[in-house]
Amino acid sequence: MQQNIVFSEKALELQAIARKIADEHVRPNAAKYDKAQEYNFEAARAVASAGLFKTFIPKEYGGHGAGVLALALVAEELAKADSGFGVAFAVNALGSFPIILGGTEEQKQRWLPKIANGEKFVAFCLSEKFAGSDASGLAVRAVEDGDHWVINGEKKWTTNGGVADYYTVFCVTDPTSKSRRISAILVEKGTPGFSIKKVEDKMGIRCVPVVETHFENVRVPKSNLIGERPGVGFKHAMQTLDYARPGVAAQAVGASQGALDLANVYSNRRVQFGVPISQHQMVMKMLADMAMKTEASRQLVYAAAAGIDEHGPSPTNSKAAAMAKCFATDVAMEVATDAVQVFGGYGFMEDYPIAKFFRDAKILQIYEGTNQVQRIVIARHLIREAAELEHLKQYIPVEEQNHYGAGVTTG
Ligand code: CAA
Repeated sequence: MQQNIVFSEKALELQAIARKIADEHVRPNAAKYDKAQEYNFEAARAVASAGLFKTFIPKEYGGHGAGVLALALVAEELAKADSGFGVAFAVNALGSFPIILGGTEEQKQRWLPKIANGEKFVAFCLSEKFAGSDASGLAVRAVEDGDHWVINGEKKWTTNGGVADYYTVFCVTDPTSKSRRISAILVEKGTPGFSIKKVEDKMGIRCVPVVETHFENVRVPKSNLIGERPGVGFKHAMQTLDYARPGVAAQAVGASQGALDLANVYSNRRVQFGVPISQHQMVMKMLADMAMKTEASRQLVYAAAAGIDEHGPSPTNSKAAAMAKCFATDVAMEVATDAVQVFGGYGFMEDYPIAKFFRDAKILQIYEGTNQVQRIVIARHLIREAAELEHLKQYIPVEEQNHYGAGVTTG
């Protein structure tokens, strides 16, 4: 993957705004919202009034059209202060991408400007109790009835559920078809029959709700089916994830940097054996490794995001997004673990900020595709690419299999 990474002026401006909001509205209250397991509406309002929800919305629909790289810069800054708030922001992009990538012109005009100005929050409803990694095995059903789709079933792990006003819901619209089984339908909060049944009690990212969404004969106008026709929902879900994964990866970079910064400050303050622990070589090694891996993640994430901005959906970008997501989130877990180690006994205590980084990091390896799924995506691309490497075959000796003693039985 060879990719120019060019930061537009707009992207850098949005990054600076995000850093200021993170310093003023996110970090100071992160522990409070984590403990209470409450959404940080104050910070979300600051994000909305600063125009940060416009980052990922195209200009024609009231956004800045700043792209996935700018989205990554903003998500990184917010997650550096509070990983939970990072996803509370970025999940709006995840919920919007099915409209941006697959919606009709009329739908984009109808929904995107309200998302851009922060009037409407969005959630993405793909996963179900029995369809997580196997996303195409989902069962929520939508049936045509006159001018409406009628939706029945339930979704699991809907991030932003309850707070969001728009829900992009992936439903089975044609159970007889293998390749055109699924469609995405936008359901608005308040539609009769649509409810939040369970708000999850979570290990981390506690300031953003993750819920079960239930659909009981939810009647939605046909014009809410995203796109011109049913049956393209799975493709849109996959493309959406390709666009959104650099954003999760950027949250991981922010989480790594936030944990490293705290460990750095603490290790220079904490004195043991007569010197700050940052002078001890084993701690130095940990800090240096944390810094190297965080920086490597950052470059991979920026390259994946820049690739999407330059070329749009493509196999190369799908692979790059999976690599960035997998690598950066594994690094975030490792860095958070080592940061706790640097804090020693204090790191295990909730009155120090680092324990929260550790709890928040775990979900990064799971949501928007487990890191096992990312490795499947990467490996499938490699298998396809092997066809273009035929010229290397000549350098690899081929061994002949001899069948000694064929026909002879041994006792
Ligand atoms: N772009 C476009 N089309 C794609 C695609 C892509 N990246 N990936 C697959 N497709 C198409 C294929 O071309 C194929 O099309 P045809 O039927 O026309 O040939 C079709 O989709 C099926 O593809 P696969 O056979 O590869 O599909 P699969 O069933 O083997 O699944 C998978 C592949 C990668 C495992 C996929 O199911 C997957 O990504 N699973 C993980 C789901 C996931 O990430 N869930 C996260 C939920 S969101 C979340 O976590 C949000 C939150 O809380 C914040």
